[in-house]
Amino acid sequence: MNACTSNTAWLDRTQAALWHPCTQMKQLAATPPLPIERGEGPWLIDYDGRRYLDAISSWWVNLFGHAEPRINAAIVDQLGKIEHVMLAGCTHAPVVELSERLAWLTGLGHAFYGSDGAAATEIALKMSFHYWRNSGQPAKTGFVSLQHAYHGETLGALSVTDVALFKATYAPLLRPSHQAMSPDWRLVEPGESAEAYALRAAADLDGYLAAHADTTAAVIVEPLVQGAAGMAMHHPVYLTTAREVCDRHGVHLIADEIAVGFGRTGTFFACEQADIRPDFICLSKGITGGYLPLSAVLTTDQVYAAFYHDDSAQGFLHSHSYTGNPLACRAALAVLDIFEQDSVIEANRVRAEHLTSLLAEVRSHPRVRHFRQTGMIWAFDVADAPPGFGRNCHRLALAQGLFIRPIGSTVYFMPPYVIEAPEMRLMADVTLNILQTL
Ligand SMILES: Cc1ncc(COP(=O)(O)O)c(C=O)c1O
Repeated sequence: MNACTSNTAWLDRTQAALWHPCTQMKQLAATPPLPIERGEGPWLIDYDGRRYLDAISSWWVNLFGHAEPRINAAIVDQLGKIEHVMLAGCTHAPVVELSERLAWLTGLGHAFYGSDGAAATEIALKMSFHYWRNSGQPAKTGFVSLQHAYHGETLGALSVTDVALFKATYAPLLRPSHQAMSPDWRLVEPGESAEAYALRAAADLDGYLAAHADTTAAVIVEPLVQGAAGMAMHHPVYLTTAREVCDRHGVHLIADEIAVGFGRTGTFFACEQADIRPDFICLSKGITGGYLPLSAVLTTDQVYAAFYHDDSAQGFLHSHSYTGNPLACRAALAVLDIFEQDSVIEANRVRAEHLTSLLAEVRSHPRVRHFRQTGMIWAFDVADAPPGFGRNCHRLALAQGLFIRPIGSTVYFMPPYVIEAPEMRLMADVTLNILQTL
């Protein structure tokens, strides 16, 4: 096999050999993928040596930049010990230590591991359903998610996802679920506050559960920010009220913190801003700093106890081959260390304020609607966006050294927690240029 040294050579071979995720392959010629040779902090570098600022953290996973020395060192150290061992029948220090630290951080326990976010969703849904069955309430089999929710694309996760583009084709394969009113504050009535709107959305959930709690196992939510919906943000009172509503009706609350966990919304977990503890928390993406696939579901002692039994079938007999992979767990432990060593949450507050101030001109641009920010997530909608806006915006930004992927007419930033003033300036300048060009 010939070694490729240029972008063009890799593009030819990628077209012949790969099926890219979330991509109509016929459009690949018009929007070719970026051939990336290496990364340095927040920068991606292609085979021709061009640099692109990774302003969306490589699909929201990368927390501390690419090739972070401390995460690299942890993985290399672990490679010299054990790269992988099956977790059924074995255990190891990285998975135990990670589980203990996640338990301390979430207030939940007994971490169950998968590899991707969608696997975590599947695990939480199955556990909730099985809990009710083990507890003598087998009729509680239904799930509620929010309008425009995204929880992954395997069949169970897609059943509670509400994005037509991903879901409609597969509808005959999916189990029906109920979508409760979205608390997205962009939908407020004139004169209504985000908080009042969130309370109205929570009342809708209450109304549904009042009629259907007997057949509902769980409500699953993306706390504070519905990412794939276009960074739809809501007031934390929605979560506080949803917790209370679920408790009142005897229904589990699953917090899908796959995208918003690990500091993304300004607190370590988004649920902290509503001062609630869910019955299940799903974690992935940033958990390994964007290094290796890992997901985890943590739950309450009460749920765990309902599976603890002499009868094997009453246990949670779910598994994945790479469950609790030691390399991924070491990366995750290094990530938790960095949060402590670098006081990341506090440092991000300063970072976020600076980027928000640099985006002032973007915010007041006549085409910008619903400028919004939660922690290290910024988004706005573009009025009168022409057809193909997202793809053209992506291309134009790339030409100016900025890697972003708008969702429809929504432009968003979800940068790694290592961007500094010059990179923020680039984001603001390129965005303004795009608004004036497209
Ligand atoms: C909130 C949320 N849940 C679940 C998922 C699915 O994660 P994965 O793509 O790792 O399967 C995503 C992915 O974007 C997500 O944003």
